[in-house]
Amino acid sequence: MSLKKIKIVDVTLRDGLQNIDTFISTESKLKIVNKLINSGVNKLEITSFVNPKAVPQFKDAENFYESCTKLYPNISFSALTPNLKGVERAVNAGLKEIVFVLSASEKHNKSNVKMTVAESLIQLKTVSDLLKKYPEVNIQVDLSTAFGYEEDIVSVDKVIEISKKISDTGVNKIMYCDTSGIAVPAQVENLIKNIKRKNLNFKFGFHFHDTFGCAIANIIKAIELDCNLFEAAAGGLGGCPFAHGATGNVSLEDLVWVLDKMNLISDIDLNKLLETTQFLEKTLAGLAPINSKVYANTHHSCPTTG
Ligand code: COA
Ligand code: ZN
Repeated sequence: MSLKKIKIVDVTLRDGLQNIDTFISTESKLKIVNKLINSGVNKLEITSFVNPKAVPQFKDAENFYESCTKLYPNISFSALTPNLKGVERAVNAGLKEIVFVLSASEKHNKSNVKMTVAESLIQLKTVSDLLKKYPEVNIQVDLSTAFGYEEDIVSVDKVIEISKKISDTGVNKIMYCDTSGIAVPAQVENLIKNIKRKNLNFKFGFHFHDTFGCAIANIIKAIELDCNLFEAAAGGLGGCPFAHGATGNVSLEDLVWVLDKMNLISDIDLNKLLETTQFLEKTLAGLAPINSKVYANTHHSCPTTG
């Protein structure tokens, strides 16, 4: 494999912080954004337009987005929305990239956005129709728990069926999210082959959590099958407050390290990114663990016992 360009969306500020109850100030978030952009990151999902009572970390969504776009007009900033109200807030705030979340698992969808999957799809259709008035606004669907959730097994057929329904609403980009971090490469392969076999006509990418340590292997499998769009979080931060037991995202540092080693191109400079991680660790001051093997092996002085 050589010289293939991989697109990475950084979700440090959104997924990475959503599990942290202590509010990280808008100023600190802006410093993290600054360092990520200096490392070469150019697509960032930075916040959620959710009920601030449910996720207080994002009570500054409007202000934070406004500051980011003023400071970095050429960078793509997106935000997550769980429902029509969230989309309306995002559009009013001037978002150009909106991420609408719904789950493949009924159980997770109810816990996360308090709707059945069918209800979420109806809202998505309303959202998609609303956005026709805003041709400058793009929408992506994050299909959470695309590989299952707790005892809720999600078959590939189910994922394909929901994907078709998403596509029928007019949305043409789906991010398959392994919210629980349980997928293995054979499942990723099966899903991609099914999408291709059925000639489904939308762009797609993957968002893996690393609960069972397979996130990087899953990404490599997807790359082998010509997928080039992935999400990751610095320090492997993240987790869904409404999915018990799920741990952080694939570490952006570990992903960039692997891509570099495989001669796959990303826009990100690993050394600068590791400085960003150091800053992130300092800023979070123990509020969440930094889970990057590359960072641990290059920046942490592990105590030795002789
Ligand atoms: N932004 C801000 N406030 C919102 C909102 C949004 N997108 N959606 C609903 N609300 C507010 C309503 O205005 C209402 O406020 P009030 O109590 O002051 O009257 C309250 O939330 C309840 O509204 P309702 O429509 O009954 O929503 P709900 O209780 O069914 O909540 C969610 C559903 C999805 C909005 C809420 O649970 C949520 O924001 N969850 C967070 C999901 C998330 O971030 N998951 C992790 C990422 S995958
Ligand atoms: Zn996630």
